[in-house]
Amino acid sequence: MLIAIPDVLDPAGVARLRGVIDAGAWADGNATSGPQSALAKRNEQLPEDDAAAREGGGHVLDALGRSPLFVAAALPLKVFPPLFNRYAGGQAFGMHVDNAIRLRRGSDFRLRADLSATLFLADPDSYDGGELVIEDQFGEQRVKLPAGHMVLYPASSLHRVEPVTRGTRIASFFWIQSMVRDDAARRILFELDQSVQAIAADKGHGDATAIRLTGVYHNLLRRWADA
Ligand code: NI
Repeated sequence: MLIAIPDVLDPAGVARLRGVIDAGAWADGNATSGPQSALAKRNEQLPEDDAAAREGGGHVLDALGRSPLFVAAALPLKVFPPLFNRYAGGQAFGMHVDNAIRLRRGSDFRLRADLSATLFLADPDSYDGGELVIEDQFGEQRVKLPAGHMVLYPASSLHRVEPVTRGTRIASFFWIQSMVRDDAARRILFELDQSVQAIAADKGHGDATAIRLTGVYHNLLRRWADA
């Protein structure tokens, strides 16, 4: 499932975060790559241990915690500390798949990457190219969202970032280990959750059908979740 999460950060939140990360010590993105992605990747990143990356990552995690849509769609168990990248002057990231297991350097933090996330942090009119192109069962999806909006997609999918031919594309990227490992099961839970919310909004939270379906949701989650 590929889902856009709008307004993870409002314009003031984007400006605050950009103020933090733009002042960081940007470095060649291949400092952290394995040999296969090093062939495909041309960009800059903030090193994981950079103070600006840590502070900025905290801003992103706080914003995720305030997004009910993110929580419903991802059912997060663990979120990798958000990282930051930027592309300019024709830089791009060719077709690749993200690593299944992510380790945080210098700590015992590790997660299984079920979902990949990109939070866009530059106005789309300020740069050309830079679309995130994701292959899913319906073909190629091309994603370029307003600043503050995020896309979530299965970490198992092949994806690439198109060359940035004008301006600078700036984003936060990270991975999520979901309580529900299976993408199809997670999608069913998400659709059920959104339907229950719609019924409750229409008929009130005390509606008997809304209450029964909420029970179905939690009983499916009990069967499928690792918590
Ligand atoms: Ni990737």
